[in-house]
Amino acid sequence: MVLSRRTFSALAGTAALGLSLSGSGSDVACAAGRTVLAPTGPAPAPPSADGRPHTVGFDRYSMIVDGRRLVIWSGEFHPFRLPSPSLWRDVLQKMRAHGYNTVSIYVAWNYHSPAPGQHDFTGVRDLGLFLRTAAETGLYVILRPGPYINAEVDAGGFPGWLTAAPGVARTSDPAYLRHADQWLTAVDRIVSRHQYTDGGGTVLLYQLENEYDNHVAEPAGRDYMAHLYAKVRADGIDVPLFHNDKGRNGHWAPGTFDTGGERGRYLYGFDGYPSPFKTPPDWGYFGPGGPKGGSTASPDTPGFIPEFGGGWFDPWGGAEFGGLGYAESRRTRDAAYERRFYLTNLANGITVHNVYMTFGGTSWGWLPAPIVYTSYDYGAAIDEARQPTDKLVPMRQIGRLLQSVPDLAKLDPAGPPPGDTTEPGPGIKAYHLVNPDTEARFLVLRNDTPSEAVAAVTLGGTRAEVPVPGLDARLLASGIALGRRKLSWSTAQPMLWLAAGRQDVAVFTGRAGESTRTCLEATDEPKVTVLDGEAAHGYADGVLSVDTVLGGITRVRVEGGGTAAPLLLLFADDESSRLLWRHDTPSGPVLVRGPALLRTAVVRGTTAHLTGDTADAADLEVWGPRGISELVWNQGALPSRVTASGSLLAGRRLAGAGRVRLPALTGWRRAEGNPESAPGHDDTAWRVTDRTASYSVTAVPDGQPVLFADDYGFHYGDVWYRGHFADADGADSVSLSYVAGTQGLLMAWLDGEPLGTHRMPVPDAKTVRKGTWTATATFPVRPRKGRAHVLSVLVRPMQHDEDGRADDTHKAARGLTAAAFTGAAPAVRWRIQGAAAPDPVRGPLNTGGLHGERHGWHLPGFADGGWQPVAFPRNERRQGVTWYRTGFRLAVDSGLDASIGLTLTDDPARAYRVQIFLNGWNMGQYINDVGPQHTFVLPNGVLRTRGRNTLALAVLSDGTTPAGPGRVELTLLGRAAGGVPVTPVPSPGPAGA
Ligand code: GAL
Repeated sequence: MVLSRRTFSALAGTAALGLSLSGSGSDVACAAGRTVLAPTGPAPAPPSADGRPHTVGFDRYSMIVDGRRLVIWSGEFHPFRLPSPSLWRDVLQKMRAHGYNTVSIYVAWNYHSPAPGQHDFTGVRDLGLFLRTAAETGLYVILRPGPYINAEVDAGGFPGWLTAAPGVARTSDPAYLRHADQWLTAVDRIVSRHQYTDGGGTVLLYQLENEYDNHVAEPAGRDYMAHLYAKVRADGIDVPLFHNDKGRNGHWAPGTFDTGGERGRYLYGFDGYPSPFKTPPDWGYFGPGGPKGGSTASPDTPGFIPEFGGGWFDPWGGAEFGGLGYAESRRTRDAAYERRFYLTNLANGITVHNVYMTFGGTSWGWLPAPIVYTSYDYGAAIDEARQPTDKLVPMRQIGRLLQSVPDLAKLDPAGPPPGDTTEPGPGIKAYHLVNPDTEARFLVLRNDTPSEAVAAVTLGGTRAEVPVPGLDARLLASGIALGRRKLSWSTAQPMLWLAAGRQDVAVFTGRAGESTRTCLEATDEPKVTVLDGEAAHGYADGVLSVDTVLGGITRVRVEGGGTAAPLLLLFADDESSRLLWRHDTPSGPVLVRGPALLRTAVVRGTTAHLTGDTADAADLEVWGPRGISELVWNQGALPSRVTASGSLLAGRRLAGAGRVRLPALTGWRRAEGNPESAPGHDDTAWRVTDRTASYSVTAVPDGQPVLFADDYGFHYGDVWYRGHFADADGADSVSLSYVAGTQGLLMAWLDGEPLGTHRMPVPDAKTVRKGTWTATATFPVRPRKGRAHVLSVLVRPMQHDEDGRADDTHKAARGLTAAAFTGAAPAVRWRIQGAAAPDPVRGPLNTGGLHGERHGWHLPGFADGGWQPVAFPRNERRQGVTWYRTGFRLAVDSGLDASIGLTLTDDPARAYRVQIFLNGWNMGQYINDVGPQHTFVLPNGVLRTRGRNTLALAVLSDGTTPAGPGRVELTLLGRAAGGVPVTPVPSPGPAGA
């Protein structure tokens, strides 16, 4: 049976009230449930670095922090994917405002370690600053420092230098452990000062390794995990530890390896990225169990998903999303997906829940693993340009619900409600849950069909029909506390409640246009006032019912009825709920309506000081602790008046964001950048390829020296080879073998003449994971007789394999592997040249070995006055490297958070690629004929929004087609009045410039 979304009706009622809501023409009865009060009182205060000791424990239901149950509602955010520390606060504040209570972070070893034993936590790598900012924002932290992390970063986070080091990684091999221990020592020195246990910070949980599913049964694996456990504990980490099991196999569950006899300080966690097109899986306690069941592998620890898909990644060429990029990831994992999958998780007893990713960010420089391009937007709830998306609406509704309704932290499956003998309805899956202590009951109703379906359910003893939109889900509650009253049941989803002065305020949400009934217990008939919108109400048998159709915000005040404090009911459709912000201050919670974002709130005396963002002009209405009579928004005082709803309403609207003017990019200058291809180029300072053995997993070809770039210390970006030979008379071809990541390429010149370019094919959905990306390029040659020759080869090796299977594949070679001639057999003496010493500010992953990179052409302040002035679009055909530079000024109003990108577009038939340097920072790689990425986010801080910027483009063109750049322009990706103060990220120029 399919009913209109506007309709629900009683199937059976113990006490039909005969209420009807205009337009619905149907009625449903309320009945009182059993009165067992749910735990009341304010939700636990958000954590801070308060310097006090705290207890962090758990049982099979949930984490227990300072003796209170806590559902962890977390989002993943990688500081290394946002190289502007000021903006960390922006993303963290957005997360907290949108209902997350925790941030989960990987710490990438390669990002911090330019050389063995060296660990850099300065500047954009300041882990301590990130942890302080998280604590200041009021978020717990889940810390995941590997040593191996995967995460679609180069070598799964292993430093480049480790690819050329002895020792089998991810095992108990002492040669590897020596390095891994040094890394953990360096991380733990910082983290141990930021743990929640002693109030130094808010780190609550700490992960060992990641998705370690090989060697599970071998001593090398078990000893490795035991070693990591002991090492981290010895470093003073005393919060609970866990591992992230890939595939829900029960790997590394408590008791499966040596944790030094400790009990109760180690949890089991597993991850999952189910297809959004399939039925959500039951991976918690209430599913079928068994080896793939998830939480059942560890019956004494809470259901814990350290990573659950909040989007997915996309390879070069965009095969994952049909070339549509991350917008498609966001479309297929939209708000309804979140409700359907995440409410299923909660219904399965998952009370430690982290969504990967919540802000994906940018794999800038040489950070991305071969399987992804620069953008790691992921289709996450907060996009790469830091803009909130629709996906935050359910995240906030659920997050706030978990905070307001502690009953949800301890749930058991409940049998069918008494008297319920029917299935909830075709296409509907129902989870019926009960808190065994409070007897609060919850129903998660999920519709796995594409069209709306109706669930026939029993709520508080009453049968009701509840519509669930296609491929969506909803949660219904009964028997929970709403401040000082008790909810009998509601067909709308509760979102939050708070005590605001004398009255309580409760918010219910749902899809616009839905008819809802909400029933409250009341010992005698309360006075009900509909303050705004339309609602009908009635009272019978100790229950007040309020009916309303969701649309905008309907306000209903309930007074009396056996409870002294009035209750303000706010029924908000999704769109309106996104303008309601709860914030906990030391003086008590506030609820704010109107702005696009509430960042901070404090009450001083009679004044509520608020900061946040507006996009368009907006109301400002505040419910808060008793006695507030003044409002200050972003430091500006506003006149205000008290409303009938018991709030303070600002006497004028908040201003929206002003205009942002972006300059056209002109004044380009050009220089060719491949002198290495010229026969006379001086390579005497280059490294001779004199090694004969390698720790690589790639075999050194017979009769060849080791040519692998990593063996000569060149781990990131381009490498040049020059091979000198004579005795080539009669040679008619040369074959050059190389290994790369996806989209690697090789260009060759003989005696300065281009031989051609070889490119690895564009990956499809299968090869992206399986490909080894080895190739041999064969070029015809005709060397002039009796001469000495030089073969110049440029390899863009892309990045190292991720080693997801723990078989050392991050050590697969990168660069040239062999050269062979036909028609002659000259002895070739090779020299190699790659990236210069790492940039001490921008880090080891910023630059590779192009001539321009080695000589600071990408840096601000580089003297390009002698370069040729040119205009875009360009139309030149050559094999090699061409650099373009320009400068531009921005004058974005202070107080305006403009998010700006660089967009490149051109005829997709043109074969060229571009590395983008903004103020010397490598903001990513554009491949014109592969895509799918065209817009590159330029993070404020690296981007001077008030001042001068330098843009440098390093273009590699293969000469088979004319090359661009075509159009290159600044694009506005979002704007808000407000934002956070942004400190410029240091961007030094060339030494001595
Ligand atoms: C997980 C892994 C993460 C990341 C994710 C996909 O399996 O733990 O590091 O790679 O997959 O984005």
